[in-house]
Amino acid sequence: MTSTVEIKVNKIAKSRVGEYDVNNVPFGKCFSDHMFVAEYSDGKWQKAYIEPYADIPMSYAMSALHYGQAIFEGMKAYKNEKGEVSLFRPTANFQRMNKSAVRMAMPEVPEEIFMGGLLELIKLDKDWVPSSETGSLYIRPFLIATDEAIGVKASDTYKFVIITCPAGKYYSEPIRVLVETNYIRAVEGGVGNVKAAGNYGRSLYPTKLAQQKGYQQEIWTDSMTHSFVEESGTMNLMFVIDGTVVTPKLSDTILAGITRDSVLTLARDWGMNVEERKVSLKEIEEAQQVGKLNEAFGVGTAATIAHIVAIGHNGKDYELPAVEARKFSNKVDQTLRDIRKSRAEDKHKWMLKVI
Ligand SMILES: Cc1ncc(COP(=O)(O)O)c(C=O)c1O
Repeated sequence: MTSTVEIKVNKIAKSRVGEYDVNNVPFGKCFSDHMFVAEYSDGKWQKAYIEPYADIPMSYAMSALHYGQAIFEGMKAYKNEKGEVSLFRPTANFQRMNKSAVRMAMPEVPEEIFMGGLLELIKLDKDWVPSSETGSLYIRPFLIATDEAIGVKASDTYKFVIITCPAGKYYSEPIRVLVETNYIRAVEGGVGNVKAAGNYGRSLYPTKLAQQKGYQQEIWTDSMTHSFVEESGTMNLMFVIDGTVVTPKLSDTILAGITRDSVLTLARDWGMNVEERKVSLKEIEEAQQVGKLNEAFGVGTAATIAHIVAIGHNGKDYELPAVEARKFSNKVDQTLRDIRKSRAEDKHKWMLKVI
């Protein structure tokens, strides 16, 4: 899809960046100077602009609020030691956003608008990109239905917006996860494989219950039998079982994570055995009992690599080996950081330099 919409830029009079220590802010709470907005009506993208970050003017009847036509993406920009700013695999986020749009009966965002707006915005707000080892600028593109109308139907008008915020580590510690066998995140034929806002809303109550029991996250299982593991929070799941990297195969109910793909690519580059297939709880538990469950971790943009130290299931905690002993996840974590910070060869051309 192409577009010839010109991006109008209205810069902030005085940057707010000096009010924060961008290398030391809580995740998702402090927003950069500018935002990008594109508006869709009458069957086409009409205007696109960058403005100082501000509240959204909207009706209480705005359809996204009532019928859930709301999708989003999550991606990051990194600053290397020379002060250059680059994005990690932004085209993959662009493509996934449009896959979500199609599934939710929303208009696709043209590449010129998504990538053009993104590059322009990051250039303008480059001073907000942290330079610390684990810091990055978290980027949140999202698309929402904006019709002022009650009545269940696809909206005729939409806004595509990008906002950004400096971010440090998502989890400060390795995590304990609880296997969920009562509530479900996604069903066959549903929207689990796209980034629909409702997927996250429905996950909050069961996650709250898990947190009350002392776990940070849940492991979602398949909706029919609750015997196969799927994902955890906003992360795909990976295991190293007896030296083989094992991860649930992508399906209707699993989001195709960009970090997941990157981690599997590195594993294959390093000549490791990689298996993408159904992974049963029974297999995980048996591997743990005979000492063959070497590593378990979540992978995603926000957390990057989140080591799992215990998996709770049926009243029992399956403990994992010490984080320091985990060869693969530690190496992959370091390698991704080195690629993002331009210290390692970017063999797969994952980084897109912005400025
Ligand atoms: C449900 C879910 N699974 C997996 C992921 C990981 O995807 P990515 O690596 O593209 O961030 C995310 C985050 O976007 C997510 O929300």
